[in-house]
Order: sequence, then C-alpha cells, then structure tokens
Amino acid sequence: MEIGTKKVVLTGMQPTGILQLGNFLGAANNWRKMLDRYNCYFFIPNQHAITVPQVPADLRRATLNAIAQYIACGLDPERCTIFVQSHITGHTELAWILGCITPIGQLYRMHQFKEKSAKKENIYSGLLYYPVLMAADILLYNADYVPTGEDQRQHVELARDLAEKFNATYSETFTVPAPLIEETGARIMSLKSPEHKMSKSDPDANATIYILDEPKIIQKKIASAVTDSGDKIADDPERPGIRNLLHIYCAAAGIGLAEGEEKFAHYQGYAPFKRELADMLIALLEPVREKYRAIKDDKTYLLSVVRKGAETVQPIAHKLLSTAYRKVGFLEG
Ligand code: TYM
Repeated sequence: MEIGTKKVVLTGMQPTGILQLGNFLGAANNWRKMLDRYNCYFFIPNQHAITVPQVPADLRRATLNAIAQYIACGLDPERCTIFVQSHITGHTELAWILGCITPIGQLYRMHQFKEKSAKKENIYSGLLYYPVLMAADILLYNADYVPTGEDQRQHVELARDLAEKFNATYSETFTVPAPLIEETGARIMSLKSPEHKMSKSDPDANATIYILDEPKIIQKKIASAVTDSGDKIADDPERPGIRNLLHIYCAAAGIGLAEGEEKFAHYQGYAPFKRELADMLIALLEPVREKYRAIKDDKTYLLSVVRKGAETVQPIAHKLLSTAYRKVGFLEG
C-alpha cells in the first residue's frame, strides 16, 4: 500500500537491553537513512519478547529504553512513526488468522526456532508461533519493505508466503513484502568467535560492542578482536575474524567491500587498521550516546512519542483487520 507516493517500510527490534553493533549496523543505522524516502513504521515488538521468560518490571523498563534508543539512533519521531506492539489491537488477532493457514512443518523448519529451542528444556508454543506473529506485524500495515539483518530473512519469507496464500485463497488483500538486506552489516559476527553472530547474550563481554560503550571500551574490544597470523585485510571466508572487521568498517563507513579492500590494500599488519576502525565506530556512536543520555529518563516524552505513534497506526491496523475478518467469513459486529 502506498500512502501518498511513498512506499511503506516496517520493522522492529525486540526490547531486550542495550543494542549491540549488529543491531545498529544491520538495522537501525540503515533505517534512519530511509526516513525521507519511505513512510516508515518502527515498532517495539514487546509481544515477541515474552516468547522467552521476562521479569515484568524489566520488560517495561526495556521497552521505554528501546524507544529512547530508537530515537538516539536517529529515528526522528517527527519523520517516522514509532509505536509499541501491545498498544495496538490487531497484531495478535491477525496472527491467529494467519496461523490457521500456516503449515506447522514450516514453523519447525525456522532456523531461529531450532537454535532457540535446542538449548531449552521447556519449549513453549509461543516460540514456535513467533514467525506468524511477525508476519502479522508486517502484513497488518501492508508493508512494501522490511529492512532487517540476514537472520530475519527466513521470517520475512514466511510473511511473503502467507500474504500470497491468503490472497490466493480469499482474493487480493495483502501487499507481498520484500526483505531489504544490505551487502555489509547484515551479519555482524562475534569479535571473539567470528563463526557466530554478534549477540547480546554472548557470555564473553569482549565479543560484543554495545552502542553505548565508552570510547576506551570500543578501542579495547577492537584491539583484542580475533584475527589471524596474516596481514591482508580482505573479504576472505577462510579468515572470518579480519573479514568481519572489514565488514564492520565498510558498513560503518557506508562503502562497498571492494572499496574497503582497496583502501586497506597497502596497510602493513592489522594494528593500524584496527585503530582506524575503532576511531570510526567511536565517531559514529558518539552522537547516539549523547542523544540517549539526554532523553533516556524523560518518560513523559518517550510515552508521548509512542502514544502519538499508536494514534497514527491504530486506524490503519483496524481497517486491515476488518477487511481480513470479512474475507475469512467473520460476521460483522
Ligand atoms: P532482533 O530484535 O533479534 O534484531 C533486531 C534487528 O537487528 C538485526 N541483527 C543483526 N544484524 C546484523 N548482525 C547481527 N549480528 C545482528 N543481530 C541482530 C536483526 O536482523 C534485526 O533486523 N523478529 C525480529 C523482530 C521483529 C520484526 C517484526 C522485525 C518482530 N516483528 C516485523 C521486522 C518486522 C527480531 O527478533 O529482531
């Protein structure tokens, strides 16, 4: 659906603490570049967050914190719509309808479900059903594009499948969304074991850079990042440590991998490259830290942003849900 002439972008990040560099380079930093070109909806999927155990007071705090981090990352609420999932009627309702046309085998095959359930004794159905809720988040606003990191590709593919299936079964209703995944930044790896994705849950504190890390901490983490005994800075899958650092540099600098390789072709050893990378990240994250500090305790302001967001999106969600209800044969109330 187009509003005016602009295509619709929708995406979100779970409220699970301070964003790490992968969330920033793979997601938020790209999102802020879309504000003028698209009609952007950025939401906080707190209903997704309870698919794993949460302390209720912490989840409330983390949700407020997520609003502050969105804004600090440059998602200016005057130029986009920010809302909280649970404030809107429609996400879980549409998920129910979509769940009724989702083959259960497709959910069991989701990489993230396999990873997350492998480590658990008790597996709850919400974890399995999660991608259906994510499809509902996207389809409820007829999003054209869903910008995410690589790990969400399979979930967006499911949303596409479900839109096509619903449209074929009940007539044209939903826009079939397209994933928007960048060449660099879409899969930032751990600084300590670069075969694994960078994540907030990594037990090694030096494996993950957080967007609020102080400059000295960023320097230390980059300096101690795992590389190899060579000295060529290249996009080489055989050398995942230096490859990851090159990807981080290119994503942060907004340049392609070939340009990055060329820039560093004459560098002797990794140390000068690592220093340059750390300086680049410090400069990129400095305004984020400053903005976050300025707004993080202003609960009135943060709530006003998402209340305004809810006022904007609730009528859109209501309209689409009513259409879906009618198409599947629910009697009007
Ligand atoms: P979440 O909260 O795990 O991650 C938020 C965003 O950060 C990206 N990301 C990364 N990108 C690059 N490298 C990494 N190491 C890295 N780690 C995380 C993710 O790809 C994502 O873009 N299911 C979603 C939230 C969601 C959603 C939606 C997204 C719920 N409904 C509808 C889009 C549309 C999630 O858990 O992302």
